[in-house]
Amino acid sequence: MSVTVRVPAKVNVQLAVGAARPDGFHALANVFLAVSLFDEVTATPAATLTVTCEGPDADRVPLDRTNLAARAAELLAERAGIEPAVHLHIAKSIPVAGGMAGGSADGAAALLACDALWGLNTPRAELLDICAVLGSDVPFSLVGGAALGTGRGELLTPVEAGAFHWVFAVADGGLSTPAVFHEFDRLTAGTAVPEPEASPALLAALASGDPDALAATLANDLQPAALSLRPALADTLAAGTGAGALAALVSGSGPTTAFLVRDEEAAAKVAAALEASGTCRATRVASGPAPGATVLPA
Ligand code: C5P
Repeated sequence: MSVTVRVPAKVNVQLAVGAARPDGFHALANVFLAVSLFDEVTATPAATLTVTCEGPDADRVPLDRTNLAARAAELLAERAGIEPAVHLHIAKSIPVAGGMAGGSADGAAALLACDALWGLNTPRAELLDICAVLGSDVPFSLVGGAALGTGRGELLTPVEAGAFHWVFAVADGGLSTPAVFHEFDRLTAGTAVPEPEASPALLAALASGDPDALAATLANDLQPAALSLRPALADTLAAGTGAGALAALVSGSGPTTAFLVRDEEAAAKVAAALEASGTCRATRVASGPAPGATVLPA
């Protein structure tokens, strides 16, 4: 018997970053949108905790206890007082270290899969607590849809969202999230970093489903830091807007770049132009909001 959970990637339509807190994390106002790029995590009974991974970037996914899927199984088993005797197989489609919460997604998926496999029926609020221990973006991977994340991003309030079409450009290699926050600190040193706040105009645009309104309000405070570490991303952003994207931004901490487009037809055109531009490794077309981590029927 095994359990498979499907889990979405995310893009931040707003990522407002405040000053570093005493614990080293940054206060955020983080508007998450789940998009239809999915990983699948399958949990199968096994003698010991093991992780395998398949997919184009599988060789860049750690298979040890640093993998958030493995940590999720360990935390849940510890809480239930049982052994994490499970094999976790990750079918990876979300870009690795790409700013789309791929590792967080696998953590949320493994948690839900193990909970079902072990018949624990852990209350949702406790699952969300475990997610927050795993990482700032993990609770959103469980919940999906669209939500405002405050605190370090883990305190979620659902928000309304119409349907939006996106193209994502996958860059060569990844960017380390701590390195990007560190660069944010370096770039903002000596300036007064305002309290992060969700933009009312952005939330209204998101709810309206109007891509022009959303395009005018997309904002990522980590973008200058990601561009500082990866200047070539500016060429990718320009290639997408040159091809007719309504707006372009770095996804989360990058280096994946996100392009908001009017419809599926525009998505195909922008994706083709990005591929032809030679400024990215691959493109992916997706839409959002997408549902959060979901157990697939056996
Ligand atoms: O929460 P998570 O483990 O995903 O965070 C990874 C790293 O990203 C943190 O160690 C920290 O360096 C940075 N981070 C931050 N502020 C946040 C979220 C993450 O500085 N709100």
